[in-house]
Amino acid sequence: MTDSIASKVSILRVNSTPSEQEAALSRTLGLPLLAANKLQASAVDYYLRFDPEGLSLYSNEPGAPGAVRVDFSDAGLNYRARDSIKHQNIVKAIGLRGSNIPNVLDATAGLAKDAYLLASLGCKVQMLERSGIVHALLADGINRGLQAEAKTAEIVRNMQLRNVDFFAVACHLPPVDVVYLDPMFPIRSKSARAKKEMYLLQRLLGTSGDISKMLELALSLACRRVVVKRAKMSPCLAGRSPDIEFKGSSSRYDVYLTRAGAPV
Ligand SMILES: C[S@@+](CC[C@H](N)C(=O)[O-])C[C@H]1O[C@@H](n2cnc3c(N)ncnc32)[C@H](O)[C@@H]1O
Repeated sequence: MTDSIASKVSILRVNSTPSEQEAALSRTLGLPLLAANKLQASAVDYYLRFDPEGLSLYSNEPGAPGAVRVDFSDAGLNYRARDSIKHQNIVKAIGLRGSNIPNVLDATAGLAKDAYLLASLGCKVQMLERSGIVHALLADGINRGLQAEAKTAEIVRNMQLRNVDFFAVACHLPPVDVVYLDPMFPIRSKSARAKKEMYLLQRLLGTSGDISKMLELALSLACRRVVVKRAKMSPCLAGRSPDIEFKGSSSRYDVYLTRAGAPV
């Protein structure tokens, strides 16, 4: 699935002849190749480059933040996944209790940090990502994750990725215990800027479309609950009050119980 975005995005070719992976990515995403020495003079807004650390996305804006890539070996992410996971609201939100480990559909995968946290709990996580660019970053991160140290590789093996739009496939998907949604919202004031990665993705990808419909489809698929991640002070999705709310310092998880997930 290729992106239909207004920004100009290219694949940077580092040498005079494109490498096989540069050429393959250009074909898959339908994006042009650009010589590295032509970048500055070009009108390109964003570019993808194969760095030694993995496939990376950059903004070509002066003063833009650095590389955005998927790194499941990141120390901060693994601290959250291993040492502090039991204290995280996301665990309570998906309703994990003892050995009752739900399977999860992450319908808005993004850079899959949340999916990695859920996979670290033993959940089988099916991730959907509609953007071809983000999917390419994720697929590259997953490949590297599978070659990483044993614990990381074991977590990544619980994650499955598809480059599809949730709206297009929802009615063909089998039921799942939990549907997890973390849609993209309009960028707010500069002071409320999301972390550099999300800020860059928000600008590149825009918002997630009809959010009420997304919630409705998620509720029709989830056997137990739908979990929606929101900024702490944001209104509820589609104006619909959740059954349970877990508030953290910057984010909030709104939980919508489905009939089977409701307490008896
Ligand atoms: C805010 S990000 C998710 C961040 C993610 N939770 C994480 O931990 O990195 C939202 C992502 O959902 C994707 N997305 C938005 N609408 C979608 C849809 N209808 N189907 C699939 N992916 C979608 C966007 O392309 C974007 O990558």
